[in-house]
Amino acid sequence: MQILDGKALAQKIEKNVAQEVVTLKEQTGRTPGLAVILVGNDPASAAYVNMKKKACDRVGFYSVTHEMPEDISQKAIEKTIEMMNQNPNIDAILVQLPLPSQIDTTKILELIDPSKDVDGFHPYNVGRLTTKLDGFVPCTPLGVIEMLAEYNIDVKGKNCCIVGASNIVGKPMASLLLNADATVEICHIFTDDLKKHTLQADIILVGVGVINLIKEDMVKDGAIIIDIGINRADNGKLVGDVDFKNVSKKCSYITPVPGGVGPMTIAMLLSNTLKAAKIHAQEAN
Ligand code: GUN
Repeated sequence: MQILDGKALAQKIEKNVAQEVVTLKEQTGRTPGLAVILVGNDPASAAYVNMKKKACDRVGFYSVTHEMPEDISQKAIEKTIEMMNQNPNIDAILVQLPLPSQIDTTKILELIDPSKDVDGFHPYNVGRLTTKLDGFVPCTPLGVIEMLAEYNIDVKGKNCCIVGASNIVGKPMASLLLNADATVEICHIFTDDLKKHTLQADIILVGVGVINLIKEDMVKDGAIIIDIGINRADNGKLVGDVDFKNVSKKCSYITPVPGGVGPMTIAMLLSNTLKAAKIHAQEAN
């Protein structure tokens, strides 16, 4: 069994991004800029946003976080996004999800300029991904694809079982794998007999937020396990959705939690923000 070390790969990617930022500044005078909207007081969301901001600082991006109260109006968020869309110093806009229940999330995401949509959540970018056109791809599934490539794992023709059908992870993960010629199955909360599906899989990718959902009797020998879950265990430790201790004895590769997919998500946000800055630099010429 080999560990897929997302932390090490993320550090390597960060280093490359930082170098490219220096070059971009020299050649165009532009500094990539990321604006984040954080609504409410959810500690997990605040922690994620803080990690993203620190990563921006490390690679030399300009970043700004707009913190808004839980009871903020739809209009106020929309106005802020419109301002960010117009601001030439902002290459990238990220609205941390989830948003409070009074907010129409779809409407918010649709308002973001698709060329600044580094989360890849705008329907324009979703459509480009599903049709295999270049665009912005959601950071978490993009990070998984990068990690598989780093370890020379070719998904072509492989049975991939995704557990979780969210717009943020499961669905874009399916598109990326399909674009790479994998055979893809998406399981979700209404799937009957999950084990029947996971047992067929060469690669299991799970991100639903249930501790120990994937147990050793659900995994075939030599399978590749990608754990996209992040949960806080009773002892306070971060754990994924996979029973790592037992499943790791059976599989060929596995991502740890922490240190697997999580750091790659942040690395891909940096990479997407740099990509947006390069697009805007070219447009300005
Ligand atoms: N909430 C959970 N994951 C994500 C993510 O990748 N991006 C944003 N914006 N919000 C999230």
